[in-house]
Order: sequence, then structure tokens, then C-alpha cells
Amino acid sequence: MKKIYWLTGLPSSGKSSIAKELGKHLYAEILNGDEIRELTSNVEFTKEKRTIHMTYVAAMVYYLSKHIDVVVSLVSPIRSIRNSIKGKYPNLHEIYIKCDPEVCKQRDVKGLYAKAIRGEISNFTGVQGEYEEPLCPDIVVRTDEDSIEECVNQILTLHNSTPKALLIGRWQPLHEGHKWLIEQVQKMGHDVLLGIRNTPINKDGPYSAQERIDMIQKMFNNSVDHIILPDIIGVYYGRGVGYEVKELQPPKDIATISATKIRERR
Ligand SMILES: Nc1ncnc2c1ncn2[C@@H]1O[C@H](COP(=O)(O)OP(=O)(O)OP(=O)(O)O)[C@@H](O)[C@H]1O
Ligand SMILES: [Mg+2]
Repeated sequence: MKKIYWLTGLPSSGKSSIAKELGKHLYAEILNGDEIRELTSNVEFTKEKRTIHMTYVAAMVYYLSKHIDVVVSLVSPIRSIRNSIKGKYPNLHEIYIKCDPEVCKQRDVKGLYAKAIRGEISNFTGVQGEYEEPLCPDIVVRTDEDSIEECVNQILTLHNSTPKALLIGRWQPLHEGHKWLIEQVQKMGHDVLLGIRNTPINKDGPYSAQERIDMIQKMFNNSVDHIILPDIIGVYYGRGVGYEVKELQPPKDIATISATKIRERR
């Protein structure tokens, strides 16, 4: 699973600005809660409609996060709903974009605080509607004290950027020989990224990419990451590319394990 960066905070606290800046550092899908609201024609701001919206957005970004990191900016003022979606989606990180309410009112980029104070809109968080602060968010950043850049750097600590060792294969089915190989690389102190060659499904390669991902997760829990690759015919490099290509020789009993034979037995 990839990560969900869930930015919550008062209107005009800086969520969208931080999301935009984060997008320069992460390869991620950046989503704005307001834009999703328009797509679903859910434009009411009652507690009930907010609950539906937050739950819907969380479910949607969870699907996306199977493939890519996602940054969501959404006021999401209801603590119990935030806690419930955090419990449901373990890869969702609650990031509190904290800002003094008076500063938010002064910033008022969309003029909505002014409208709410004049009574032209109702249920506006920060005026008629309460923002329930997170009690134990994964990260708190202060946009009334720190610059956007500083806030972004604090959030980026969540981003695990350890270099990975890439092992390319079909992994179908994942077997003890593969396990030996992966463990050798882990013993060398590297994080493992399994590149799954998304070869056509046929008699010689009957497992879908998803089935192979499931096998990897079952065998290694979350200690091994994966990426889906097109069919790879070779790995070529010039000089000084910054990585090595290395063959690891297994002992004889491991070298004789064959995925083809395992498939034939099934
Ligand atoms: N750390 C910061 N320092 C100074 N100004 C900031 C900071 N973060 C945000 N701002 C400014 O605050 C204003 C509001 O930011 P932004 O539109 O990102 O808020 P928002 O939380 O997305 O609001 P909304 O909920 O209404 O979409 C912008 O003018 C932005 O430049
Ligand atoms: Mg915004």
C-alpha cells in the first residue's frame, strides 16, 4: 500500500497550499475535497452530509492508494469520523494543518469567513460550525508560525525515501527460492522492491498481478514493497549509473526449486 496524506484543518489554514507544495516532492495524486464535492453534487454542509462526504472521499482515496501516494486536503471537521476512517485505513496519516482561527479569518482567501459572518452562508466551519481538533494526529504543522516550506519538510518525514534494491521477476508462484533470494538482499541491509513483470496470463503464467501481490503480502507482510512493471526483456546500463546489478548464487537445494514444476504439480 502507498500512503494517504490526509490534510485536515480550518478553512484558510493552508491545506491546499501545502498539498500543492507537497506535490512537488512526492509522486502523488493531489485531491481537493471541494472538487470532489462538486463531482458528487454533495454541496450541503450539514453534519450528515459532511459525514457522507468524508467517508466517501476516504474510501475513494484508499482505492487510489493501492497504486500511488495520495494527498487530500479537506476541512474534515468531525473528529469521530476522522478517527473512524483512520481505524479503517491503516495507511491513512492524519496531518493537522493548525492555524490560529483569527489568522484564518484574516487570510480568508475565498471570502467565505466574511460571508458566514454576514450570515450569507450557514454551517461554515470556524464561524457557525465547530472544527474539532485532532487529539493525536500523526503530524501537526503550524501555518501561523512556520513557512509553507517548513511545514512541508515536517510532513515529508513521513515519506520513507530509503533507497530500494529492485528484484525483477514474474514471481508466480512465489516460492522458497524466491524467499531465499529476498532474504539475502534484506540481510545485506536493503529494503526490497519486487518488480512484478505483468506478463500475459496463460498456461505458463496463470497468476494475475493482483494474485502475485497477495502472495508477496502473505509471505512478507509489509516488509517487502512491490511495483508492477511491463514485461522486461533486459536491464541495460551505461557507466556510473549509481546502482549495481548483481547475481546472487543460491545453494544447490534452493537453486533447484522451480516455479514451472510447482505450477505443473498444481
Ligand atoms: N505557512 C504559511 N505561511 C503563510 N501563509 C500561509 C501559510 N500556509 C498558507 N498560507 C496562506 O494562507 C492562505 C490560505 O491557504 P489555503 O487556500 O491553502 O487554505 P485551505 O486550508 O486550503 O483553505 P480552504 O479550506 O478554504 O480550501 C493562502 O493565501 C496561503 O498562501
Ligand atoms: Mg483549500
